[in-house]
Amino acid sequence: MGTLFRNGTIITAADMFVADLLVEGETIQRIGRALDAAGHTVVDCSGKYLMPGGIDVHTHLELSFGGTVSNDDFDSGHKAAAFGGTTMHIDFVIQPKGGSLHDGLAEWRAKAQKAQIDYGFHMAITDLREDVMEEIPSMLDEGITSLKLFMAYKNVYQVDDTTLYRAMQMAAKHGMIIMVHAENGDVEVQLRQQLLAEGKTDPVWHYSSRPPEIEGEATNRAVVMAGLADCRLYVVHMTCEQSIAALRRGRAEGYPVMGESCVQYFHITRDHHLGAPGFEGSKYVCSPPVRNEEHHAVLWQAVRDGTLQVVSTDHCDFWYEGGVGPWQQWQKDHNGGKWVEFEAQNPSYRRPGKELGKGNFSKIPNGLPAIEDRMMVMWHLGVNGGHLSPQRFVEMNCTNPARIFGMYPRKGALVVGADADIVVWDPNKQHTLSAATQHMRCDYSLFEGMEVQGAPVQVFQRGKKLVEGAQWLGKNGQGQYIAREANAAIL
Ligand code: URP
Ligand code: ZN
Ligand code: ZN
Repeated sequence: MGTLFRNGTIITAADMFVADLLVEGETIQRIGRALDAAGHTVVDCSGKYLMPGGIDVHTHLELSFGGTVSNDDFDSGHKAAAFGGTTMHIDFVIQPKGGSLHDGLAEWRAKAQKAQIDYGFHMAITDLREDVMEEIPSMLDEGITSLKLFMAYKNVYQVDDTTLYRAMQMAAKHGMIIMVHAENGDVEVQLRQQLLAEGKTDPVWHYSSRPPEIEGEATNRAVVMAGLADCRLYVVHMTCEQSIAALRRGRAEGYPVMGESCVQYFHITRDHHLGAPGFEGSKYVCSPPVRNEEHHAVLWQAVRDGTLQVVSTDHCDFWYEGGVGPWQQWQKDHNGGKWVEFEAQNPSYRRPGKELGKGNFSKIPNGLPAIEDRMMVMWHLGVNGGHLSPQRFVEMNCTNPARIFGMYPRKGALVVGADADIVVWDPNKQHTLSAATQHMRCDYSLFEGMEVQGAPVQVFQRGKKLVEGAQWLGKNGQGQYIAREANAAIL
């Protein structure tokens, strides 16, 4: 007995047509007109769209960062993702300084024990010693095909150009892809110190410490290096005209370079959000920073002309008003150690959040809540707003992530044989985004009060229903690790 999705409008990266879709077991078995319903559960999809489950390839669940730990984990973050139509994500394993890539992987596997949706891992290299260089090819045996390097966060994650270039050469040799956080971290430190010395400590100065020029410069450097190394490159969280121009130049040269932006960079602004009075702007502190409308327009153009391939979230959320309980003393006593475990045993305590940066913008934990909002906001602003066709929406949110990261067509596609990760989308459903109703573990919403039209009503993962309206039907441990393949598409 299977599930027959009757009369839905199927949207793929290429097509939009009315059909029935039959799922048996965990995969799609048939797509056609008037399929026999005998013995199957029928889901009436008249007036609804069927699209592949969304894939968010840029998330940071339960990440130790900025003096605290990001809120959503592989439990709450997964539920939130699915309520927004995302059925798979790829999280960044961080190599511990002095440790191996496998050490990082073991840590992330432990976090993922409670997975509710499918997931994969990228490997962020922070310490590329000779032994680590030799370890890189073994990542392929673990189903990891993507290596991330940070050109920013000096003295934390940042690597130098030698390291980046050598990693590119190694990745090229093995058909892997390099991902970069592209901001010039050396210049950022200088700008930051100067601003703080001038007493410019409010959240909005975060922008001035990370202007578009340092993003554009680093993007250009990475693009040119990838061209020289003939290495697949994927520039994460692109925000501005300067970096898009660098990517466009590289693509015009025929380099194998691609890029993503994140939903927040199409809407949130420096002037209205980051520059809000008091400490309110800290809610929007992320790196690179949010930009103003002129950069949003550049991003929409890059979406339309194919310079950008993917929209993700960089989901990494922190409380706005965190730090409930004597956490400062606790951190002192425990040397900043295992906050998450402590918090689990002491439910009345809450880990620190954005308030860590009161009086010093550079200490505000960088990151935002978005994993639940991505599809609804991109549909609303992109499709309803006339920037994207429904097919291009599916391509950027579901299909290209699978193609670029080596899991197509198992994921990201509604085709026979694919995993039955299916979103039943109601293009007429009205929904108001709000912290009060969201599932993300966060006390604010980036899009508070935004009324969107178009939202998921049912969400299925490998044939099992996870979401039915407001009801959660998933289970811990049900999410599977998805091993990925090298030599994936260059788009
Ligand atoms: O502000 C951000 N982006 N936080 C998460 C870490 C990163 O740089 O991706
Ligand atoms: Zn980043
Ligand atoms: Zn990130």
